[in-house]
Amino acid sequence: MGSAITGWGSALPPRVVTNDDFAARLDTSDAWISERTGIRQRRMGGTTGSLAEEAARAALARAERQPAAIDQIVLATTTPDRLIPATSSPLHAALGCRGGAFDLNAACAGFVYGLVVADALLQVRGGAALVIGADTLSRITDQDDRSTAVLFADGAGAIVLEAVPGESAVLGADLGVDGAAADLLSCEHGGTITMEGREVYRRAVRAELDSIEAVLAATGVKIDDIALFVPHQANVRIIEAVNQRLGISMDKTALVLDRTGNTSAGSIPLALCEAADAGRLHDGDLVLLSGFGAGMTWASAVVRWGRGGPAAA
Ligand code: UT7
Repeated sequence: MGSAITGWGSALPPRVVTNDDFAARLDTSDAWISERTGIRQRRMGGTTGSLAEEAARAALARAERQPAAIDQIVLATTTPDRLIPATSSPLHAALGCRGGAFDLNAACAGFVYGLVVADALLQVRGGAALVIGADTLSRITDQDDRSTAVLFADGAGAIVLEAVPGESAVLGADLGVDGAAADLLSCEHGGTITMEGREVYRRAVRAELDSIEAVLAATGVKIDDIALFVPHQANVRIIEAVNQRLGISMDKTALVLDRTGNTSAGSIPLALCEAADAGRLHDGDLVLLSGFGAGMTWASAVVRWGRGGPAAA
């Protein structure tokens, strides 16, 4: 049994917060934020459940599937709306899906973790899954702390993954975590995010490089075979550093962080969906996904886009 990505969709809350909005009330500037991060504006608002639902409905519409065709929801999130129940549970009811639903917390690597888990489930028992990455980081960010407030924001993206005969959409994956470094980026119950930014940055570049090299080696895919690279959207300097060392051009890279900030599990699917909507992806294209985040987690996967076999040369 194989699998195919048959739909995609994303959601951003309507409220736009610009760098100048922060500069008006904090000791920061548009120049500092855009030069150090690449972020120019971000979206805030909604709940993880509401953004996940909007993204899921868009993905279902694109796949031309009713919610009842879905028998598994995998919702990657670090910001569930409540501790109990999982956010995917009321989401499952709101959408009217069948089968099961669970949340998965692997921070900014969560969407790739979720995709790999969903793909494995389909191989065991067929069916169709919604894989969603959704986060509302603004709710757990101290909006008066300039070192984190300008970075983290809200958003969601989703795909429909269906069991089909033949090859799996996920050609290979590398998943990892370094729990010894977990305190570098954390948030206590009821608290706000604390982060050692420079050290996270350093580890992020290393983790993505090693993880991408591992997944390329495991799949035998060459970097030149990749049609689109979709990295986690935390900081454009991290993306540029990884690209430079791997020899990936920015033309082949999906970038939304200038408009979204860091939306954790939402970031990779948001960038993937925007690229797909812009016509940058064709059936059979190979896509490289790579994320890292709190945990410290990382995850990379080579994925074949859409229905059908390998892209025509
Ligand atoms: O999603 C996964 C997890 N997160 C990440 O991937 C984030 C990884 N880290 C980063 O992206 C970067 O480290 C940051 C964007 C967080 C910071 O950039 P940096 O170039 O590493 O700056 P820094 O932390 O070394 O700080 C440089 C200076 C400091 O001042 P001093 O000590 O040199 O006087 C900071 O206090 O910049 C100051 N600073 C700011 N200044 C203006 C920190 N935040 C701001 C700000 N505006 N918003």
